Amino acid sequence: MKTALVLNGPNLNLLGTREPAVYGHATLADVEKLCAQACAKQGLTLDFRQTNHEGVLVDWLHEAGRAQASGTLAGVILNAGAYTHTSVALHDAIKGAGVTCIELHISNVHAREAFRHHSYISPAAKAVMAGFGVKGYALAIAALAEM
Ligand code: DQA
Repeated sequence: MKTALVLNGPNLNLLGTREPAVYGHATLADVEKLCAQACAKQGLTLDFRQTNHEGVLVDWLHEAGRAQASGTLAGVILNAGAYTHTSVALHDAIKGAGVTCIELHISNVHAREAFRHHSYISPAAKAVMAGFGVKGYALAIAALAEM
Protein backbone atom coordinates (compact mmCIF):
# COMPACT_ATOMS: atom_id res chain seq x y z
CA MET A 1 0.00 0.00 0.00
CA LYS A 2 1.45 3.39 -1.02
CA THR A 3 1.52 6.47 1.19
CA ALA A 4 0.06 9.92 0.53
CA LEU A 5 2.16 12.56 2.27
CA VAL A 6 0.19 15.67 3.24
CA LEU A 7 2.43 18.59 4.18
CA ASN A 8 1.12 21.73 5.82
CA GLY A 9 3.19 24.88 6.21
CA PRO A 10 3.14 27.93 8.45
CA ASN A 11 0.10 28.98 10.47
CA LEU A 12 -1.98 25.99 9.39
CA ASN A 13 -1.70 24.74 12.99
CA LEU A 14 -4.06 27.66 13.76
CA LEU A 15 -6.87 26.32 11.56
CA GLY A 16 -10.22 26.50 13.34
CA THR A 17 -9.48 29.82 15.02
CA ARG A 18 -7.48 31.54 12.26
CA GLU A 19 -9.62 33.88 10.09
CA PRO A 20 -12.61 31.49 10.04
CA ALA A 21 -14.35 33.60 7.40
CA VAL A 22 -11.50 32.67 5.02
CA TYR A 23 -10.43 29.20 6.22
CA GLY A 24 -13.57 27.85 7.95
CA HIS A 25 -13.97 26.33 11.40
CA ALA A 26 -12.30 22.94 10.89
CA THR A 27 -9.13 22.40 12.92
CA LEU A 28 -5.97 20.78 11.57
CA ALA A 29 -6.93 17.65 13.54
CA ASP A 30 -10.27 17.65 11.67
CA VAL A 31 -8.38 17.95 8.37
CA GLU A 32 -6.17 15.02 9.35
CA LYS A 33 -9.27 12.89 10.04
CA LEU A 34 -10.80 13.90 6.70
CA CYS A 35 -7.53 12.95 4.95
CA ALA A 36 -7.39 9.61 6.77
CA GLN A 37 -10.92 8.81 5.55
CA ALA A 38 -10.06 9.86 1.98
CA CYS A 39 -6.90 7.73 2.04
CA ALA A 40 -8.77 4.71 3.40
CA LYS A 41 -11.23 5.00 0.47
CA GLN A 42 -8.35 5.11 -2.01
CA GLY A 43 -6.30 2.32 -0.46
CA LEU A 44 -3.54 4.71 0.57
CA THR A 45 -1.75 5.15 3.90
CA LEU A 46 -1.73 8.71 5.26
CA ASP A 47 1.34 10.56 6.52
CA PHE A 48 0.10 13.98 7.71
CA ARG A 49 2.48 16.71 8.93
CA GLN A 50 2.63 20.43 9.75
CA THR A 51 5.55 22.76 10.39
CA ASN A 52 6.07 26.49 10.64
CA HIS A 53 9.63 26.17 9.31
CA GLU A 54 10.61 26.44 5.64
CA GLY A 55 13.73 24.25 5.94
CA VAL A 56 11.72 21.46 7.54
CA LEU A 57 9.42 21.47 4.48
CA VAL A 58 12.53 21.29 2.26
CA ASP A 59 13.80 18.27 4.23
CA TRP A 60 10.39 16.56 4.05
CA LEU A 61 10.21 17.10 0.26
CA HIS A 62 13.67 15.51 -0.13
CA GLU A 63 12.54 12.57 2.02
CA ALA A 64 9.41 12.31 -0.17
CA GLY A 65 11.50 12.19 -3.34
CA ARG A 66 13.49 9.27 -1.96
CA ALA A 67 10.30 7.46 -0.86
CA GLN A 68 8.67 7.96 -4.26
CA ALA A 69 11.80 6.68 -6.02
CA SER A 70 11.74 3.57 -3.84
CA GLY A 71 8.07 2.96 -4.71
CA THR A 72 6.52 3.52 -1.28
CA LEU A 73 5.06 7.00 -1.86
CA ALA A 74 2.25 8.01 -4.24
CA GLY A 75 3.11 11.70 -3.94
CA VAL A 76 2.76 14.84 -1.88
CA ILE A 77 -0.11 17.21 -1.27
CA LEU A 78 1.49 20.47 -0.24
CA ASN A 79 -0.21 23.42 1.39
CA ALA A 80 2.86 25.59 1.82
CA GLY A 81 0.84 28.47 3.31
CA ALA A 82 2.56 31.83 2.88
CA TYR A 83 5.81 30.15 1.71
CA THR A 84 3.88 29.52 -1.53
CA HIS A 85 4.35 33.17 -2.38
CA THR A 86 7.96 33.59 -1.22
CA SER A 87 9.94 30.38 -1.40
CA VAL A 88 12.33 29.63 -4.24
CA ALA A 89 13.73 26.96 -1.89
CA LEU A 90 10.46 25.00 -1.97
CA HIS A 91 10.27 25.32 -5.77
CA ASP A 92 13.81 23.96 -6.02
CA ALA A 93 13.13 21.19 -3.48
CA ILE A 94 10.12 19.83 -5.42
CA LYS A 95 12.08 19.87 -8.68
CA GLY A 96 15.30 18.59 -7.12
CA ALA A 97 13.57 15.74 -5.30
CA GLY A 98 11.63 14.81 -8.44
CA VAL A 99 8.53 14.27 -6.34
CA THR A 100 4.93 14.36 -7.61
CA CYS A 101 3.38 17.32 -5.85
CA ILE A 102 -0.16 18.67 -5.78
CA GLU A 103 -0.22 22.29 -4.61
CA LEU A 104 -3.24 22.92 -2.43
CA HIS A 105 -4.87 25.99 -0.91
CA ILE A 106 -7.97 26.03 1.25
CA SER A 107 -8.94 29.49 0.03
CA ASN A 108 -9.12 30.74 -3.55
CA VAL A 109 -5.82 32.65 -3.47
CA HIS A 110 -6.64 34.28 -6.82
CA ALA A 111 -9.70 35.99 -5.35
CA ARG A 112 -7.61 37.46 -2.50
CA GLU A 113 -4.81 40.03 -2.15
CA ALA A 114 -2.51 40.50 -5.17
CA PHE A 115 0.51 39.17 -3.22
CA ARG A 116 -1.22 35.77 -3.06
CA HIS A 117 -1.65 35.54 -6.85
CA HIS A 118 1.92 34.44 -7.52
CA SER A 119 3.08 30.97 -6.52
CA TYR A 120 6.65 29.67 -6.61
CA ILE A 121 5.19 26.17 -6.12
CA SER A 122 2.90 26.07 -9.19
CA PRO A 123 5.62 25.75 -11.90
CA ALA A 124 7.10 22.78 -10.02
CA ALA A 125 3.76 21.15 -9.15
CA LYS A 126 1.92 18.49 -11.11
CA ALA A 127 -1.44 20.14 -10.34
CA VAL A 128 -2.92 23.00 -8.35
CA MET A 129 -6.10 23.13 -6.27
CA ALA A 130 -7.50 26.21 -4.56
CA GLY A 131 -10.77 27.37 -3.11
CA PHE A 132 -12.50 24.10 -2.20
CA GLY A 133 -12.13 24.70 1.53
CA VAL A 134 -10.70 21.86 3.59
CA LYS A 135 -12.63 19.38 1.38
CA GLY A 136 -9.94 20.13 -1.19
CA TYR A 137 -7.62 17.82 0.76
CA ALA A 138 -9.94 14.85 0.13
CA LEU A 139 -10.29 15.82 -3.55
CA ALA A 140 -6.51 16.07 -3.88
CA ILE A 141 -6.04 12.62 -2.29
CA ALA A 142 -8.54 11.13 -4.77
CA ALA A 143 -6.67 12.83 -7.62
CA LEU A 144 -3.30 11.58 -6.36
CA ALA A 145 -4.66 8.02 -6.22
CA GLU A 146 -5.61 8.28 -9.92
CA MET A 147 -2.24 9.66 -11.08
C1 DQA B 1 -3.27 29.22 2.08
C2 DQA B 1 -3.25 30.54 1.30
C3 DQA B 1 -1.98 31.32 1.57
O1 DQA B 1 -1.98 32.53 0.84
C4 DQA B 1 -1.88 31.65 3.04
O2 DQA B 1 -0.67 32.31 3.32
C5 DQA B 1 -2.04 30.45 3.90
C6 DQA B 1 -3.05 29.46 3.57
C7 DQA B 1 -4.61 28.48 1.91
O3 DQA B 1 -4.65 27.31 2.28
O4 DQA B 1 -5.60 29.05 1.45
O5 DQA B 1 -1.40 30.32 4.94
O6 DQA B 1 -2.23 28.38 1.57
